[in-house]
This record gives sequence, C-alpha cells and structure tokens, in this order.
Amino acid sequence: MRVTVIGSGYVGLVTGACLSDLGFKVVCLDKDEEKIRALQEGDVPIYEPGLKELLSRNRADGRIRFTNDACEAVEHGDILFIAVGTPPAEDGSADLGHVLSVAATIGRHLKGFKLVVNKSTVPVGTADKVRAAISHELVHRGMSPDLFDVVSNPEFLKEGAAIDDFMRPDRIVVGVDEGLHHARSRRMMGDLYASFNRHHARTVWMDVRSAELTKYAANAMLAARISFMNEMANLADVLGADVDHIRRGIGADSRIGHSFLYAGCGYGGSCFPKDTQALVNTAKAYGHSMAVVSATEVVNERQKTILVDRLTQHMGQDLTGRKIAVWGLAFKPNTDDMREAPSRVVIRQLLLRGAHVCAFDPVAGSLALEALRLDMSQESHLLERFELAASDMQALEGADALMVLTEWKNFHNPDFEAMKALMRKPFILDGRNLYNPEALSELGMAYQGVGRRNDLAQLMDFGVPAGASTVPESMNA
Ligand SMILES: NC(=O)c1ccc[n+]([C@@H]2O[C@H](COP(=O)([O-])OP(=O)(O)OC[C@H]3O[C@@H](n4cnc5c(N)ncnc54)[C@H](O)[C@@H]3O)[C@@H](O)[C@H]2O)c1
Repeated sequence: MRVTVIGSGYVGLVTGACLSDLGFKVVCLDKDEEKIRALQEGDVPIYEPGLKELLSRNRADGRIRFTNDACEAVEHGDILFIAVGTPPAEDGSADLGHVLSVAATIGRHLKGFKLVVNKSTVPVGTADKVRAAISHELVHRGMSPDLFDVVSNPEFLKEGAAIDDFMRPDRIVVGVDEGLHHARSRRMMGDLYASFNRHHARTVWMDVRSAELTKYAANAMLAARISFMNEMANLADVLGADVDHIRRGIGADSRIGHSFLYAGCGYGGSCFPKDTQALVNTAKAYGHSMAVVSATEVVNERQKTILVDRLTQHMGQDLTGRKIAVWGLAFKPNTDDMREAPSRVVIRQLLLRGAHVCAFDPVAGSLALEALRLDMSQESHLLERFELAASDMQALEGADALMVLTEWKNFHNPDFEAMKALMRKPFILDGRNLYNPEALSELGMAYQGVGRRNDLAQLMDFGVPAGASTVPESMNA
C-alpha cells in the first residue's frame, strides 16, 4: 500500500515520516513551494525532536519524497491523508477552506479507487462535505462519483513528543461509515496500522461522525482539566494553600490520574484554543451551549495575564524603566510553535505598561519575533523595547523580575546564585511552577508561583524607577 500525505506541517510531516519508517512508500504534498524545496534539500522547516533524523533516514532509503505536484501525489497513494490546517474563522468556527480545497484537488486528479483519510481536526459533518467536493469534481469529469471513500482518523499527537506519540499511540481512532466501500476501507485502515495492533488492539473503530467528535471531546477535556486547576490555584493563593499538594492529592486518585493537572499561566498552541472555540461554535449552530467548554476558555484567557497582574501588584501599573526578563516563548517546551502562546499576551501587556522586555527561548526566538510583529502591527513602536537574548543568563542582566513562561528542561535547575548576581532585583514570577518556594526564600529570592502559598507581604520593596508615572502613555493610547 502506498501513502500520500497532503499538507506537510506538524501533523503531515510526522505522519509521513513515521509511516515511511514503518516501510510504506510515502509522498508528502504541500502547496508551499519553499517548504517543499527545503524538505527536498534535507531541511526540516519545523522543530520537532527526532523528526529531522527520521526524515533524512527514510529519504535516503527512498521511502519518502516531497512534491508540489498534486497530480503526481494523488496518483501515488492508495491512501490519501488530508493533514492541512483548520484555523479558526472569524466567528470561531473551524475554517474548512484548506480541507475542501484539497478535496477538490483530489477529485480533479483521481483516476482509480482511493481511500481519503481525514487527519485534520474537523467539525462533525466535514467528511460529508469532503465527499461532496470530491464527487462534484468527478461528476464534472464524467466519472463515477463512487470511486473513493472518506474515513476519519483524527490525530492525537503532542508537539514536542510527536514521533513517540505516533509510534506508540494510546489508541488509534478510525471512523468508517457503512456503505459501498465499508469492508475495503476498514481492511485498508487495518493494514495501515497493523504494526500498532500486534501486541494488543489499539484501534478504536467507530462511525465517522463519532470519530470527528472524539477529537474535540479529547481536547476539550484536557483543556478543561488545565483551566480547572488554574481556578484551584487562584483560590489556593487566596486561601494560603499550595496547588502542588492539591495536584498530587487528587492525581493519586486512579479515577482522576496525574496528567494535565498543572496550574500555570494558561494553555496555548495550535489545538486547544481553536478546538474548544470550534466545539462551542458547532454546538451553537445546533442550538446547544457548552457551558463547561466556554468556561474553560474564559478561565484560560484570564490566566494568561495573571503574572502581569502579580507584577503590577508589586511594581504599580507603570513599568517604565523596569526591565523584565522572560524565559520561554514557545507555547510549550520542545517546539518552536508560537500559535496562541501565552508569551504573546504577556509580552504585549508588559510593553504596553512601559517595560523593557528581554526574552530567551532555546528554539522559538525568531518565530516569536515574527508573531509579536504580527500581533503588534498597529503598535510596532512598542517592540523597540523588546529584545531577544542569546542565553537565559544574558536575559537576566539588570532585570527587575524574571517571568518563566515555558517549562523547557534547561530552566528546571538554574544556578540561582548566578541569577541573583545578574538581576537588579531577584524576583521570579514562575508561570509553570518549576521552583521550590521555600528553597528560593532561603536564598533570599522573591518568588511567586501560581497557587504556591506565596506570602505576598514578604516580597521586597521594588521602589519606583526614575521617569515612572502612574499610568504609562502607551496604556492611554
Ligand atoms: N499541531 C498539532 O499538534 C496537531 C495535533 C493534532 C491534530 N492537529 C490538526 O491537524 C491539522 C494540521 O495541523 P498542523 O499543525 O500540522 O498544521 P500546519 O499549519 O503546521 O500545516 C498545514 C500544512 O498544510 C499545507 N496546506 C494548506 N493547504 C494546502 C493545500 N490545499 N494543499 C497542500 N498543502 C496545503 C500548509 O502549507 C501547511 O504546510 C489541523 O487540523 C490541526 O488541528 C494538529
């Protein structure tokens, strides 16, 4: 069986690389010519641990190649994966423009039977739209509209651990509908994933609509756990409890489990924010409300500014003359993905209040700068006070505070004495609860985690820097 993957982003490249490593002959298609050229030359346009090695090995062995030629790509695969983006439209619904344009392309080039597998995250009913778009083109070409089937195979990989997630999945969800091609489609999907089902059956078979909804249900549940813990953390702060004890106390309950119970400065990324929004939107279109999911979003938006609120509690609204160091820009560690990263909101808020921001991220620096330029296209002058540091320690030089926004491993055990010596004021606002409040207090460093029983009264006096007013000019704009 040969495989074509349409869309060579995070999901498409990981799918293509892993399936080629399992022995399938894979062609990856993308409409972005520069991306394909880079891939053909052995460059990988995204940062994902292990991906470059996997691609280069399988490319050298002739099992994977990259193209912009849709005709060649559709011709190649018995199975055609759709793995293009489904960004949020203005009303929060999933924009299906890329998916349906791929469907039309398939319809224009299809000659014999193909199994179309939708891996993009799409609202319930999208498979029907994909079917209609392909059939429309086939009829236009005077061909049978039954030359294909569409199944749903949502992706659950996590950026930063994507190869491992794909190669060792907890489960594989496959939605196949009853109909003319049911037996054939099910057999093909069974053969494709046979390697993962050898030890025990990991594929969960269902109908297409249920598979489409399963993906949203999973992301909404995970996002809700994070927002729930963030609310607990904020309450713990007020009550003088420690959310980290609470996390361990409830995580040990086998009905709850330990995953996704970390409080912090909010979730981001290309999935949770847009998928919760799209789910709320789908429900609305059918006259339903999703109260839990909507509350999850509201809590998350509020959580993104919690560190800035803490900072201004101590330093006042005007941060003119303050230098704030930021560690971590990507929405999570081991990726350079800046989509919906909380750092974008935090940095803009700091700049609006007049602060100078010096940030370090092990891989996301240049993409972060691009993202901030986009966010602040109407207020680009603010970015004059933003700079990227070459190292974590360099970012700290003369800083009045450090904000930790991404839990990269490099930040887990820093040299606190050296940090103290570099900073003007040794104050850490830990948005990922990496550090031990007691240990830092013994070192004479002021520390604020999220829900970590911080004694706010014991913080140092930050004074007022020269040139500061009560409300910075940029906030009046
Ligand atoms: N990134 C994740 O962690 C993740 C995890 C699970 C599911 N998903 C879902 O998978 C889908 C893809 O996400 P992603 O992060 O890989 O997106 P991405 O933006 O990284 O990649 C999408 C790629 O599709 C290409 N593309 C768009 N239209 C095309 C067309 N008509 N023909 C050929 N190529 C085209 C783009 O150029 C881009 O390279 C989305 O629906 C997303 O929600 C993503």
